[in-house]
Amino acid sequence: MIKTVEWISEQPGSPVPGHPRIIDQTRLPGEIRYLDLHSPGETWTAIKTLQVRGAPAIGVAAAMGLAVAVLELDRPDTPGLVEELNRIADYLAGSRPTAVNLFWALDRLRAVAQTSTRLAPAAFKRRLVEEALAIYREDLDMCRAIGRHALTLLEGVHTVLTHCNAGGLATSLYGTALAPVYLAHEQGRTLRVFADETRPLLQGARLTAWELKQAGIPVTLICDNMAARVMFEGKIQAVLVGADRIAANGDTANKIGTYGVAVSARHHGIPFYVLAPTSTVDLALPDGSGIPIEERDSEEIACGFGRRTAPEGIAFYNPAFDVTPAALITAIICEKGVARGDFRADLARWAKPGM
Ligand code: MRU
Repeated sequence: MIKTVEWISEQPGSPVPGHPRIIDQTRLPGEIRYLDLHSPGETWTAIKTLQVRGAPAIGVAAAMGLAVAVLELDRPDTPGLVEELNRIADYLAGSRPTAVNLFWALDRLRAVAQTSTRLAPAAFKRRLVEEALAIYREDLDMCRAIGRHALTLLEGVHTVLTHCNAGGLATSLYGTALAPVYLAHEQGRTLRVFADETRPLLQGARLTAWELKQAGIPVTLICDNMAARVMFEGKIQAVLVGADRIAANGDTANKIGTYGVAVSARHHGIPFYVLAPTSTVDLALPDGSGIPIEERDSEEIACGFGRRTAPEGIAFYNPAFDVTPAALITAIICEKGVARGDFRADLARWAKPGM
């Protein structure tokens, strides 16, 4: 699998025991280029500009980015390091608003810092790296578990539709929505994928289609406005999407356009599955109305990938996410199991720390 985010361990002579490395997703599919992150500014920019994107991968990159930023600080006292850590975490938290995994990961490191103030600076820094690596390892396990649970729902299914990229490039391993597709492939079973290209930044075309092709999994690319037609033609047996934030009642924020796909799926009687780790569940929000929706630069619509495709001097609106109401979701599949019907009880039990 592609290494979306990884921790590069200490080289001889290096003053710190490692740093994160990401694949620069803005360059795909044309170029495979890796970026080493050291400073908070580099991590902030990587998240903001979607060099690393997808909710779980953002969480892992933020945790590693925060850890390396503290590693590279030269303060002799641990309380001073904690103060700096909180300041850098606040800064990184301002990079993107919707994927709750960003805040979840930063808060995990803040909590570890708070309970490690008695450690000497070097041990304190090591503890932070350990926690960031634990988040990374949990992400690997989460992908496998989601894949296993999802496959129990996909017996007799041959073709699925997905929106945006919730595959390996959005996590540390298989992805969430694509986890059952990869797992099935490992078991010698083929699930064919229709990928929405996902305007305006084309995560479906540039990333989903690319990574599935790399893995040898059959993928058919369609424009977003073709999804309803393809469903009408009977080509799709299930929709699999990821999530950026799931409210306590199951309302789910995901890439703009997901809501429309869910409406179409309901109309055509096709099951619509959300696949996401419990770190994406935000129990503080009773429903989706409180989920902050990122609005991005109008240039992404007017001048995507360098060519102007709209006139100057008109209005643009570019929300990066929408919220699919829980009522349109057939099941939410987390690493802890499959939730159906009223999602509240399962989500509350699963997302509780330590459960
Ligand atoms: O703007 P992006 O590319 O970060 O949006 C990503 C998505 O919407 C994904 O579907 C979501 O983060 C889930 S990734 C497992």
